[in-house]
Amino acid sequence: MTPTNDTQASAASVESLLARMTLDEKLGQMMQPERMAVTPDDVRTHFLGSILSGGGSCPGDNRPSDWIAMNDAYWAASMSTEGGRTPVPLLYGVDAIHGHANVLGATVFPHNIGLGATGDSELLERIARITAREVLATGVDWTFAPTLAVANDLRWGRTYESYSEDASLVARYASRFVRGLQGDMGRDGVVACAKHWVGDGGTDLGYDQGDTILDEEALTSTHIAPYLPALAEGVLTVMASFNSWNGNKCHGHRYLLTDVLKGRLGFSGFVISDWDGVDYLHEDYATAIAMAVNAGVDMLMVSVEWRACLAHLKQRVVDGTIPMARIDDAVRRILTVKERFGLFGKARPADRYWSQVDCLGAADHRVVAREAVRKSLVLLKNDNAILPLAPGARILVAGRNADNLGHQCGGFTVAWQGTSGNESVPGGTSIWGGIRAAAPGATLSVDGSAASAAAHDVAIVVVGERPYAEGMGDLRGQETIGAGSGAGGKAKRLAPYGDSLSLSVLHPEDLATIRAIRDKGIPVVTVLVSGRPLEVNEELAHSAAFVAAWLPGSEGAGVADALFGTHPFQGTLPFAWPATAEGATYPARRASSLFPLGFGLR
Ligand code: BGC
Repeated sequence: MTPTNDTQASAASVESLLARMTLDEKLGQMMQPERMAVTPDDVRTHFLGSILSGGGSCPGDNRPSDWIAMNDAYWAASMSTEGGRTPVPLLYGVDAIHGHANVLGATVFPHNIGLGATGDSELLERIARITAREVLATGVDWTFAPTLAVANDLRWGRTYESYSEDASLVARYASRFVRGLQGDMGRDGVVACAKHWVGDGGTDLGYDQGDTILDEEALTSTHIAPYLPALAEGVLTVMASFNSWNGNKCHGHRYLLTDVLKGRLGFSGFVISDWDGVDYLHEDYATAIAMAVNAGVDMLMVSVEWRACLAHLKQRVVDGTIPMARIDDAVRRILTVKERFGLFGKARPADRYWSQVDCLGAADHRVVAREAVRKSLVLLKNDNAILPLAPGARILVAGRNADNLGHQCGGFTVAWQGTSGNESVPGGTSIWGGIRAAAPGATLSVDGSAASAAAHDVAIVVVGERPYAEGMGDLRGQETIGAGSGAGGKAKRLAPYGDSLSLSVLHPEDLATIRAIRDKGIPVVTVLVSGRPLEVNEELAHSAAFVAAWLPGSEGAGVADALFGTHPFQGTLPFAWPATAEGATYPARRASSLFPLGFGLR
């Protein structure tokens, strides 16, 4: 069969399936409730097409066997023929955005900002392929990745989900990551999801879910551009974004969702809404749902209120607010994705190939994550060539983030907002753990109080941010969200991380540790663990060497690889580094940067 015949055959089978489905069966396909709110019996009786795990939502003891058992039960319910029901296999989705990091014992890769620093698109494809395998090892089909945001303002809490402020780098990565995840749609592939459509990284003041105020040319060249290679690569799903464009929310934006994405750009997969993202379109839930579906949202991600959502959806179809043709188009797209992914031909999750392979957190996966860590490190200062360090030197290791896997993994790791401490990332190596392995004589003193010039030649001080996700990572002043971001409905407000881009304001204890050690006459090598460049002028001034390590993930040994010179520093800045706390926004930051985009000492 030629590919054309294949495509025709699958289109025909989707059409015949669609023709057999009742209205309730069709509407069920358009629903994606969160697992906590839904049982296998609900899937059977309401014909649900998809389920997700929100950040940190995990079955049982959060082991692969728990995930497989859960997915197996949902899948079996979706395939029931009881009462003449049309069986359609369920698609299960998670945020495997830096490895399958929701699951205990998974390989946790650096967050996207660190991958941006590697500049290595071939590495990106290998990471995506490994992520797909670990996802498949839990019986899951779909990951809400890659994020193709081009972050503009470092105060945005999701800056670390952005590869770079340089749209051309994000575009270069997009196709490789999608290719790594989806593969040839065979045994080793998962469904990818390019997100968040569109302009998520361009909001005013860097407010999460805020308003991106740009003319269409700028929106296209910066924020739409990275989607083109992802679409050309055949990405099967796209997630609508919480943000607005010039005051109009993307979830209800017919021009962006239907005219541009599905029309001009020819996207033939389906659009999923973000977490309760339709709710913010209008005070009246039923109206909000109709606005979103009529604008082009095909599947609705709903945290808890899926029963109400389904009832409103049906009511709006029956009263003619949503045309039946729109429902058929949405369901056709969903079934087509399931068909292209080969879901109809797949065995139950427990019997699939990767469910039998114990590959979660496998040693060869961790080797690639460690490679990514060492390639992501950006050396910003190295006075008197203090680096690389000799393993035999008398080394003190200090700082809040030196021995904290939760902190070095960041948000979207086991819990939505991430974790603290080493327990929740089993099998991982903290930065301290990696140093100790490379230099067995090194000692740890988190607060640095054990530092003594008589005992130590050099100190490695690991400082920076604690984990956060989404709006909880925003850096904001006291001002409230402007009218534009809430236009036409409600706006979601989340407590911000802080109100300054300066590390010395956010975490004065870090500067105190660096200073106290330096004041004892010990040269300090500072390693910054953070989801974004921060203003660190004082910390830099008191350090002999300074390394931006981003959010490296579970394989902290990659930091030691570069500190001790086993591998050279090779990372380059994916964002221009701010010279002042006011310099958060591109392009002003670029013009007055302390270190320019692409900077990195060798
Ligand atoms: C985020 C998405 C994510 C979704 C599901 C939302 O809050 O914006 O990026 O995929 O939750 O967890």
